[in-house]
Amino acid sequence: MPTAMVTGANRGIGLETVRQLLDRDYEVHATYRSGKGGLADIDNPRLVLHQMDVRNTDEVVAAMEAVGPSLDLLVNNAGVADGRWPTIEDIDFDIVSDVMEVNAIAPVRVTQQALPLLANGGGTVLMITSLMGSIGDCASGRSYAYRASKTALNMFTAAMKNELREQGISLLLIHPGWVETDMGGPNAPIQAEESVSGIMARLEEQTLEMTGRFVDYAGTSLPW
Ligand SMILES: NC(=O)c1ccc[n+]([C@@H]2O[C@H](COP(=O)([O-])OP(=O)(O)OC[C@H]3O[C@@H](n4cnc5c(N)ncnc54)[C@H](OP(=O)(O)O)[C@@H]3O)[C@@H](O)[C@H]2O)c1
Repeated sequence: MPTAMVTGANRGIGLETVRQLLDRDYEVHATYRSGKGGLADIDNPRLVLHQMDVRNTDEVVAAMEAVGPSLDLLVNNAGVADGRWPTIEDIDFDIVSDVMEVNAIAPVRVTQQALPLLANGGGTVLMITSLMGSIGDCASGRSYAYRASKTALNMFTAAMKNELREQGISLLLIHPGWVETDMGGPNAPIQAEESVSGIMARLEEQTLEMTGRFVDYAGTSLPW
């Protein structure tokens, strides 16, 4: 039975990812920061819950120890929006630091701690990124910290791909689309179910040779 971990799994895209991985017969280790949210409603013996704030190394280490010995798939999904400041003068740098910490640094921390488990049998690391991290696509500007955090996540991923390929670990950067969640808001045109179905298809086609690609949920390549 393949084993997966999904971070930030109590709501939104993370929760739907848990549901669809369970449908595909994975054992799923779902992590949540404080509340179990929708995870509490899933009754499945292959679902294991772990409390884990992705900013807290001790909690990440404890969760990995509980998962062992191996992991086939790590989904770094947990993420936060920024203050959507209207001007540069309005930027709150405490919020900037937290957005960078959660969206860019924590996925690297979680991946680092998962490496011994992933290297046991290869494995795939899926980074849920955003088209808003694309410099080539940044026409409207603003969303300073959120954009920069996803750009940094993309670069962290591109920079680690050669080293991880040697360990048989494949990396995948996916923009889920504009999805109706707490973050995406009520006007988003895509439901989590459709987005995650696409993400599952991307995972199924992923090979080690494709490592480091940056695509949307439908498989379209995106500009860096
Ligand atoms: N929705 C979109 O349109 C869209 C578009 C592009 C990319 N994305 C990306 O997709 C991912 C999921 O977003 P979503 O739309 O599902 O958002 P969401 O509904 O707001 O869910 C975000 C999840 O991240 C968790 N999280 C936040 N900070 C955390 C921390 N420090 N430790 C652990 N978990 C933490 C939240 O947990 P709590 O409940 O505890 O806060 C929640 O489970 C994010 O990386 C986001 O940037 C979303």
